Amino acid sequence: MAKISEREKEERFAQRLGKGGKVASAQEMTEEYKEHLVHLMMMQADSELAGAYGYVPWIMKSPNIQETLAVAQIVKDEVRHARVMYRLLEGLGMEVQGYFDKHNFTLRVEERDIGTQRVADDKRVNIFYYPIHTWYDFILFNFCMDRGAGHQLEDAKDCSYQPWCDVMEGIFKEEAMHMAHGDAWVKRLAGDPKTQGAVQEALNVWYPRTMNIFGRPNSPKNRIYRKLGLKRRDNEEVRQAFSAEIRQKCGEFGLRVPDWKPVEAMMSEEPFIPG
Ligand SMILES: [Fe+2]
Ligand SMILES: [Fe+2]
Repeated sequence: MAKISEREKEERFAQRLGKGGKVASAQEMTEEYKEHLVHLMMMQADSELAGAYGYVPWIMKSPNIQETLAVAQIVKDEVRHARVMYRLLEGLGMEVQGYFDKHNFTLRVEERDIGTQRVADDKRVNIFYYPIHTWYDFILFNFCMDRGAGHQLEDAKDCSYQPWCDVMEGIFKEEAMHMAHGDAWVKRLAGDPKTQGAVQEALNVWYPRTMNIFGRPNSPKNRIYRKLGLKRRDNEEVRQAFSAEIRQKCGEFGLRVPDWKPVEAMMSEEPFIPG
């Protein structure tokens, strides 16, 4: 059989994915596909792990024993998500232990807004570099970021790499629990005049940070991801779906939706996945 060129191979492959085709193993991938897939999966894996580490102190600092258990469960879920993603990456040839040894996933920075500036050379999404200083921060992280992650994960659940779809189903369910935890607490704190001001203030911090995770509208990278079936929607569509849900919840709980301006330079080029 005549050997087909790399370019032809890529075109045929993209056409298949454009029709909803699935990829099951590394042998079927083109270089281009593998590179983008690994990049997106590493963003998720590193974010899951950094997220877990950020929550750890709140196992001990939570307001009561039930909450100690709830936070411990959330930490366990996030570590599991990271582990599952790194195992998929190992299957694609990544040397995970060496990578883990070289990066500091506990690193946090104090700046109020780090924009798109790279803080370190791990691949986590920038929101995971912000410290969680108070119980309000923890709750608003669940309310905003786990919800944002859920919207991003919708696409991964139905992406072209079947082994990723397979693990997303379980991850998605656990993220929904984290979000429900955030919702219940935000409702409770917003309903009490003694805590309403503080919950609004925390929302003012975490809502814009979450709005910045989705990437620029119509970004060239997003177009490539869509061509390869690694994403299904434009970044802006995902952002708007998240924002609409926050609006609805804020209406319900008597909170004001904070302002957010789409400052191009402040929006990450990369759409994030997880929480
Ligand atoms: Fe997660
Ligand atoms: Fe989560």
